[in-house]
Amino acid sequence: MMRSFLTILFPGRSILLAAALMLSPLLFAQKPRTVVDFNGGWKFALQKDTSSAKPSLPEASWRVLDLPHDWSIEGEFRKDNPATTQGGALPGGIGWYKKTFVVPADLKDKNLSIEFDGVYRNSEVWINGRSLGKRPYGYISFQYDLTPYIKPAPASNLIEVRVDNGQQPNSRWYTGSGIYRNVRLVSTSKLAVKHWGSFVTAAPLNAKQATVNVETNVKNTGAITGKAQISYQVLDQSGKLISSSKIKALDLTGEEISSKEQLLVNNPVLWSTDKPFLYKLVTTITQNGKLSDQFETTFGIRSFYFDADKGFFLNGRSMKIKGVCMHHDLGALGAAVNTRAIERQLEILKAMGCNAIRTAHNPSAPELLELCDKMGFLVMVEAFDMWKKKKNKFDYFTDFEDWHVRDLQDMVLRDRNHPSVFMWSVGNEIREQFDSTGITITKELVDIVKAIDTTRPVIAALSEWNPEKNFMYKSKALDLVALNYHHEVYDDFQKHYPGQKFLGAENMSALATRGHYEEWPSDSTYLWPAKSPLKYVENGNADYTVSAYDQVAAYWGSTHEQTWKLIKKHKFLSGLFVWTGFDYLGEPTPYPWPARSSYFGIVDLAGFPKDVYYMYQSEWSDKNVLHILPHWNHEARKSDKPVDVWVYYNNADEVELFLNGQSLGAKRKGGEDLHLMWRVPFQPGELKAVSRKNGRLVKEAKVETAGEPAKIELTADRSILNADGKDLAFVTARILDKNGRFVALASTQLEFEITGEGQLAATDNGYQADTTSFQSKTRQCWKGMALGIIRAGKKQGNITLTVKAPGMTPAVLRLRTSDHSKMVLRKF
Ligand code: GAL
Repeated sequence: MMRSFLTILFPGRSILLAAALMLSPLLFAQKPRTVVDFNGGWKFALQKDTSSAKPSLPEASWRVLDLPHDWSIEGEFRKDNPATTQGGALPGGIGWYKKTFVVPADLKDKNLSIEFDGVYRNSEVWINGRSLGKRPYGYISFQYDLTPYIKPAPASNLIEVRVDNGQQPNSRWYTGSGIYRNVRLVSTSKLAVKHWGSFVTAAPLNAKQATVNVETNVKNTGAITGKAQISYQVLDQSGKLISSSKIKALDLTGEEISSKEQLLVNNPVLWSTDKPFLYKLVTTITQNGKLSDQFETTFGIRSFYFDADKGFFLNGRSMKIKGVCMHHDLGALGAAVNTRAIERQLEILKAMGCNAIRTAHNPSAPELLELCDKMGFLVMVEAFDMWKKKKNKFDYFTDFEDWHVRDLQDMVLRDRNHPSVFMWSVGNEIREQFDSTGITITKELVDIVKAIDTTRPVIAALSEWNPEKNFMYKSKALDLVALNYHHEVYDDFQKHYPGQKFLGAENMSALATRGHYEEWPSDSTYLWPAKSPLKYVENGNADYTVSAYDQVAAYWGSTHEQTWKLIKKHKFLSGLFVWTGFDYLGEPTPYPWPARSSYFGIVDLAGFPKDVYYMYQSEWSDKNVLHILPHWNHEARKSDKPVDVWVYYNNADEVELFLNGQSLGAKRKGGEDLHLMWRVPFQPGELKAVSRKNGRLVKEAKVETAGEPAKIELTADRSILNADGKDLAFVTARILDKNGRFVALASTQLEFEITGEGQLAATDNGYQADTTSFQSKTRQCWKGMALGIIRAGKKQGNITLTVKAPGMTPAVLRLRTSDHSKMVLRKF
């Protein structure tokens, strides 16, 4: 059916209507502030001929889609894609987006702006043929005022966006391409809170009270004179009013007016990683008795500090920072922001006991921070991976000079109200640390941040540990010594840096492929490239795998256990950020093509935990953990040496291992041990572990030798999805034998088929060297598992997923989409 892609704006939503319906009565202007989701119904085209700056692309080359959108993830993996395998081996290029829309005539008394959360990269935006500006940095949020250029109904307006990710390589990881984050239209009255104009800092004053300091920047674009009134209210999570300010006069002189206020909250509930309690501040501006703006800011009340001897404290309580670094991609979904996909990553990390995220190495999507506020993660927000000195031929170094002030300011202005955000990083492993230019630029950047926010430490992630040689450290502008790697100097940190506060900004870089185990003595460590005698590490495996015993790491890093033991040992080591929480697209160290995603994750790209996840869970969480590795299918093994069996456990005094019912003895961890090990001659059957405390059973776990693949088991993370066209269900497929035992080595080819109110968004298996497109309906299992991601449609109804494999009965899973406004929100 032909549709005309005119969007007509209503408060709180946008609706695609046929042109004939365009003149419906519109309510837009009745509210002082309206925020409209502007993601729907864009047209997109790739520009093949790159010679023209603004080509006229034939109508047939455009297709209709909803944002957020990442065109790179739709492409094929290719060795010769210019992003290289470092960038994920997917295509870049130049893309165009356009959208036609009509605004109500009574909007003429309002201001209208468009907000982009992020466009990768080099975007230029036009309204009705007129350029609004360019933003080179692909991770920064920005806004343009449309007011002077907008044509009221019945005329229509055209927004066009050019996105240029053609110059490659420009990154050390996968970036995605396009308008990959959300877009909104915002209308306000002529006297309103400025974009990012609200700053709330809240901290406990004493045991019974907290102060909430508010600074509001108001914009008067209507040359309104006289006085307006501003007031504030604090609401708790249930919407109950708990504090309000007096009404204060705003003198309307000039275009920008700043107003400060302090409110008190009695018996505050503090925000913490265990109990992330949130408040809302409502700012109300009136003028001549008429509501001019009402603006909401979510905040939390909490305090924290770092101590050079005792580490980190949140709300006065000592706490290790148990963090992970995360790149922004969402695995098979690419860079296109999806709230449920981010939430799932965070749920998996939360269940491991992780309490902090580093947005490596760029500002994140706002949804990540909103989720961290709600779910209880601390966040280090990072600005840049390079300054003036490049790491890649076309990276941000070309734009740093012109844009760093603006980009850094915008990052802090946007993110400063989040209780989760506890630290700003002005750069990662910046080349300027090695010469004196590092002193000046560090000072400048720290000053830029502190001119806006003095409530959080400013750091940079340093790879040169030696204080004598690091010019960024020598600037004395940084609040903590935040080191990447160099665990070898941690014991003596206080000698090297007397009186300084420590943070492990990036750690480990250990490598593993889920479900793959090597026949080495697993209690030796191997570094890549080989500093060890083992040829294996030098040459790699023919199938691009790395052993999942925690024993392989990049030479600049360590195994997971090595560094965690150190952090645990010393109070002054406030915590760490493991490189990385999840595998990410790009940087497939240690392998070349066809490896195209990283090996560093505790969790693989599909979201399936690798074994070391359970080491962290046993150390970082209170959950009872008992996990055995490897699997128990070693019939084809060439060596007759025994198999090294590792067990991670906690909350117990001992673990006893049984092979086919025969005890192999009980063991307990001694000293600093983080796992147990038995050397077990292989015999098919069942290997069972039993953990006990004071002689009583705590937990049992087993691995079993499986027969031939016979069945497909499907498990969805949820069975009801919001019918919003965005919500996702993550479906895990596992291959079982006829007796229901997991076939850990199965590489069954699966075919995913969906009918009903949903679509197959992507498939994956977590294997770093699988070059089948993520859009493919067929996916080979990796080590017995694969993932199908289902995206909900926009109507209520049923979804049926059928997964087929040669010679097996198809597996069927039924899900449902439901009107999300009627759904009970998930609790964190
Ligand atoms: C670090 C760098 C990260 C990543 C990591 C891999 O030096 O900061 O971005 O490249 O190495 O080990």
